[in-house]
Amino acid sequence: MVQVAIVGSGFIGRAWAISFARAGNDVALWDQAPSAAAAARNYIVEVLDDLAGFDLLLGQSPEELIERVRIVGNLAEALDGAAHVQENAPEDVDIKRAVFSLIDDMAGSDTVIASSSSALLPSSFTGHLLGKHRCLVAHPINPPYLIPAVEVVPAPWTSPETVDSTCALLTQAGHAPLVMKRELDGFIMNRMQGALLEEAFRLVADGYATVEDIDTGIRDGLALRWSFMGPFETIDLNAPGGVRDYVGRYQGIYRNLFAQMQQRVDWDGPVLDMIERDRRHKLPSERHEERQVWRDRRLMALAAHKTESDNKFGK
Ligand SMILES: NC(=O)c1ccc[n+]([C@@H]2O[C@H](COP(=O)([O-])OP(=O)(O)OC[C@H]3O[C@@H](n4cnc5c(N)ncnc54)[C@H](O)[C@@H]3O)[C@@H](O)[C@H]2O)c1
Repeated sequence: MVQVAIVGSGFIGRAWAISFARAGNDVALWDQAPSAAAAARNYIVEVLDDLAGFDLLLGQSPEELIERVRIVGNLAEALDGAAHVQENAPEDVDIKRAVFSLIDDMAGSDTVIASSSSALLPSSFTGHLLGKHRCLVAHPINPPYLIPAVEVVPAPWTSPETVDSTCALLTQAGHAPLVMKRELDGFIMNRMQGALLEEAFRLVADGYATVEDIDTGIRDGLALRWSFMGPFETIDLNAPGGVRDYVGRYQGIYRNLFAQMQQRVDWDGPVLDMIERDRRHKLPSERHEERQVWRDRRLMALAAHKTESDNKFGK
């Protein structure tokens, strides 16, 4: 068990706190805004009851877990004794550079400094630091206490030890790290999600499918397998002779499609009016928040089911 400092206690910072504390680590919460860390802790208290209801606290009570989350009044206190810092300031390269400078100046020499950045390359905000070798990105999907995958993205100067200790901490906290061999715009998951969204927008924009058709195809089709295995395992199992057999049989179908996919679709062109109209018809704005709560409960139920099935059938 180690000490983790959460720097920036908004949406993602507070969610990381749950994940690290649930695994037995001590978590210090700090935010530049005076009341943000206390607000984050209040939010955590509310979520813990829900998580306990789905048996997602590893047999611990909400009270035991919250005892490991402490609010601190300044950055120095947050960093004191921390083995790992998880930075969650706003997605702005100048802010990240400034926050990383402060942390690198004040943290112990062995402390790893990880950013939750969704899309900024670690080289864009750590190159000026004396301790740049101990900096990297650890990008979660929200909320990390329910979704295990985390993209670990090293800058060219990040040391292998920094990557290893980040992965060890994440794994200990029940996460599934994906380690990039080198940094690239969009990392891995947003590149894959972007490819899917681009095609979804195109199919609607060109009049081949409705918004609901696209959602049905993923929700009631492809995503059923994707919720427990990836695209490579999917194709490996979808031909009697495995992945090579699949490619031999089916590459032709896809090869012909790619030429049609080269033209960019303008997501905020006329297609957006169509998508927004359909979505607001299905989900009026006043029910948006209620549906977000529904989504989080469904995610909790899925996480509980996956854990149970992993144990019963193997991963
Ligand atoms: N929201 C998501 O779904 C999501 C998912 C993955 C990664 N991220 C990344 O996480 C980071 C934080 O995003 P968020 O959604 O939690 O934003 P947020 O606006 O909810 O929280 C940001 C917090 O940072 C604080 N802050 C501002 N300047 C600071 C500073 N100099 N030092 C310390 N704290 C500071 C703010 O007071 C605020 O509480 C971003 O880099 C974002 O790209 C977000």
